[in-house]
Amino acid sequence: MITSRTSVSPRETRREGAFLAKELLKHRDQKPIIITLEGELGAGKTTFVKGFARELGLKRTITSPTFLIVRHYALRGFLKHFFHIDAYRIKNIKETKALGLKDIFSTPESVTLVEWPEHVRGALPRDTVHIFLEHGKKERERIIRVAAKKKEK
Ligand SMILES: Nc1ncnc2c1ncn2[C@@H]1O[C@H](COP(=O)(O)OP(=O)(O)O)[C@@H](O)[C@H]1O
Ligand SMILES: [Mg+2]
Repeated sequence: MITSRTSVSPRETRREGAFLAKELLKHRDQKPIIITLEGELGAGKTTFVKGFARELGLKRTITSPTFLIVRHYALRGFLKHFFHIDAYRIKNIKETKALGLKDIFSTPESVTLVEWPEHVRGALPRDTVHIFLEHGKKERERIIRVAAKKKEK
């Protein structure tokens, strides 16, 4: 399944993030949720994450975790953990292991959003939701595509 939407402002991109969060929250199960965000610098990945986090009830401002790589936020809903990963600085699989990404990706009642997933490709679980963001023709235009496998029953 692929959906493609056009955003014309950061606000709209945040709304797209919130919309996806709402969709995913409809399926309440214990399985960790992993979402990747691909797109060049300034494509709107972090902006999308902000809208997503807000929908989950996170009041704190999400800042880009570039220098920390992984940020964890506690949630109060049926999802308990929110991880925001910026893999931009990860250079090899050793670093991936050192960060404990496998453990993060298998934490029950968690949702993880990964920017620059290209850098941790091998560590990603199979049923990851993939989001692609790219600049459109106009300055504030962004094309947001979501590709997710249909849930197996
Ligand atoms: N439609 C839009 N969606 C998201 N960001 C936009 C949009 N139009 C302009 N911008 C700007 O582009 C930048 C996106 O930054 P950010 O979300 O940090 O991108 P990334 O994490 O992909 O590097 C911000 O400065 C934002 O204000
Ligand atoms: Mg970013």
